[in-house]
Amino acid sequence: MHYGQCPKKAESRNQTIIQTYKDKYGANSIPTQAQYWTMCGRCSYSENQLEIGCEPYQILQSGLIEPTQFHGVEIDKDIYSWNSKVNNGMNWHYGDFYTTMIEYSNENTFNPAIVNADLIHMPKHAAPYISKIMMFLSTVGIEKTMLICNIVAEHRYLRSDIKEMCRLLESNTNYQMANNVAKWEIHSDYYWYNGTQKVESTGRSTKMMTMIFFKGEL
Ligand SMILES: C[S@@+](CC[C@H](N)C(=O)[O-])C[C@H]1O[C@@H](n2cnc3c(N)ncnc32)[C@H](O)[C@@H]1O
Repeated sequence: MHYGQCPKKAESRNQTIIQTYKDKYGANSIPTQAQYWTMCGRCSYSENQLEIGCEPYQILQSGLIEPTQFHGVEIDKDIYSWNSKVNNGMNWHYGDFYTTMIEYSNENTFNPAIVNADLIHMPKHAAPYISKIMMFLSTVGIEKTMLICNIVAEHRYLRSDIKEMCRLLESNTNYQMANNVAKWEIHSDYYWYNGTQKVESTGRSTKMMTMIFFKGEL
């Protein structure tokens, strides 16, 4: 089974992205002119075939988006090369997630209804990265954006928690500025799930936590 097909990952996407969007906005799909941006990982293993169960497959199946609304960014060139062979109108980008969104917005209409920052970092690195994404999203795009942030909470013998994540965010200048220029609301629930891969040395799974933010009208 490939990473993107993992049932725990599928359930977390269902709860944190699909259901949360539908509940929050009372809509079964994002607006026609809006986009879905994600750090997508590998979504194809054979020429021009979207892997069943991967993130875009699941989000398309849910009815939330149409293929052309999908923007998948990937920093690993091999993964990007495989993804870009899927030729059904979806948009594949190679590069850093944050930088790619900025570059895209400089040349195109950047209109994200959903941004999925599916990070592989613990809070120390996740907090500054999320903060700069929030600062950027505060000044561009449509008024309503849902930002999903997956953060590694426990890995090997490293431990963190939501309190540390909140403390790091609140002390970050970009996060503070983002909250000054836009109206951000934090979802009251934090979602926890075991990551998909066991660490060999410990036999434990990586533990993930999800924070969800909503940018609203000022
Ligand atoms: C957790 S996986 C994505 C899983 C996918 N969103 C899903 O739901 O199945 C994270 C992916 O992001 C890529 N990645 C890591 N840092 C990145 C960055 N700064 N910009 C873009 N992609 C990045 C990794 O190579 C990896 O494939």
